[in-house]
Amino acid sequence: MTRPGIDLWDSEAATFDEAADHGLRDPVVRAAWRELLLARLPPAPARVADLGCGTGTLSLLLADAGHTVDGVDFSPEMVRRAVAKAAGRDDVRFVVADAAAPPLAPGAYDVALCRHVLWTMPDPGAALRTWLGLLAPAGRLVLVEGRWSTGGGLSAADTVALVEAAGRHAALTRLPEARYWGRRIDDERYVVVASS
Ligand SMILES: C[S@@+](CC[C@H](N)C(=O)[O-])C[C@H]1O[C@@H](n2cnc3c(N)ncnc32)[C@H](O)[C@@H]1O
Repeated sequence: MTRPGIDLWDSEAATFDEAADHGLRDPVVRAAWRELLLARLPPAPARVADLGCGTGTLSLLLADAGHTVDGVDFSPEMVRRAVAKAAGRDDVRFVVADAAAPPLAPGAYDVALCRHVLWTMPDPGAALRTWLGLLAPAGRLVLVEGRWSTGGGLSAADTVALVEAAGRHAALTRLPEARYWGRRIDDERYVVVASS
């Protein structure tokens, strides 16, 4: 974790939710993510760790569906906004910390969720093993990633290889549909569920 990295994400926080897939303000986009994620989670209530939770939009989406969520993000500005959104709730909490070493109980989670964060980790394989370590025996890791037209990100093949190298089965679904992004896309976006 580097201070410049934190500063960069802090500076993104004020406008972060303006992107359709970040703020989920468009009901069509919100419904698409709700359906996608709930189809990959066990029935509520499950215990969920949201790693690199940003402004907490997905954490709250899952808490609204009856799950209990711990969100972790190293950007104080992201977490400040997540905490504000969750005011008065006890089914979701947020902590400022490095997702590479989250202050969460190993083996305690039914689901570890990570959207658009694995690609930023200095050692993605090590992060992935740490996140798998948060899971109870039947738990699953849900990774939403992409290889964007900007050149950043991880290809689906890279992510599947990381999951398989960690000894887990990887179930890949590609997400080319505009309903997830609020616009047409032409780059590679997907979700991988890692399970035993
Ligand atoms: C592209 S945003 C995704 C936010 C959220 N997962 C979502 O999908 O809306 C990446 C987030 O990961 C966080 N992040 C990046 N590296 C991190 C690290 N090492 N530890 C904790 N958070 C990290 C950033 O602060 C930022 O909030």
